[in-house]
Amino acid sequence: MRILVTYWSKSGNTRKVAEAIFKSLSCEKVIKPFDQVDSFEGFDLIFIGFPVMQFGPPAPVRKFITTFTPGKKIALFVTHALITGSEDPHYRNLLRKELDQCRSLCAGADLMGMFHCQGELSKPIADTLLTSNNPLLMEFAAMRPLTIGHPDVHELEEARDFAQTIISGL
Ligand SMILES: Cc1cc2nc3c(=O)[nH]c(=O)nc-3n(C[C@H](O)[C@H](O)[C@H](O)COP(=O)(O)O)c2cc1C
Repeated sequence: MRILVTYWSKSGNTRKVAEAIFKSLSCEKVIKPFDQVDSFEGFDLIFIGFPVMQFGPPAPVRKFITTFTPGKKIALFVTHALITGSEDPHYRNLLRKELDQCRSLCAGADLMGMFHCQGELSKPIADTLLTSNNPLLMEFAAMRPLTIGHPDVHELEEARDFAQTIISGL
């Protein structure tokens, strides 16, 4: 079995999850950022990771997934600022919608599963968002303290477990 782990990561959170998944694989494997991938040929399974931005997958991610994934066996891993399992129905609903968008983007693929966890909103990015005058982006910037340190050791362990579950279902 040959597996590709590929990711798009602006501030490094999704890359950390990609590396955790990659290290947990004991078969033939390759890890590459999106911009170094020109084909999925020759892989039995592709793990694809990216962050949520502005409530869904960012434009380069949309392009990459719709170009490369139709008909392919894939598994997603996604990072986001929103807290997983929030008690607040507004944020719970928002996260559900964000993840639904990520999932629906893969309609043409054989989607084996999706892992998601929080990712730290970096300080330079939060500072920029705070001056954006976009109330929704400013709301995310204010959330930064709740995101610090993610993905944490526990979430990276969960990502490894996710990868093993996907492999065992092949
Ligand atoms: C411009 C921008 C927009 C973002 N929008 C959202 C969002 O709508 N929802 C969310 O949960 N997180 C949002 N985030 C937080 C990122 O998804 C989170 O920090 C992610 O872990 C970043 O991943 P990376 O380090 O791999 O780039 C946003 C971050 C940035 C920079």
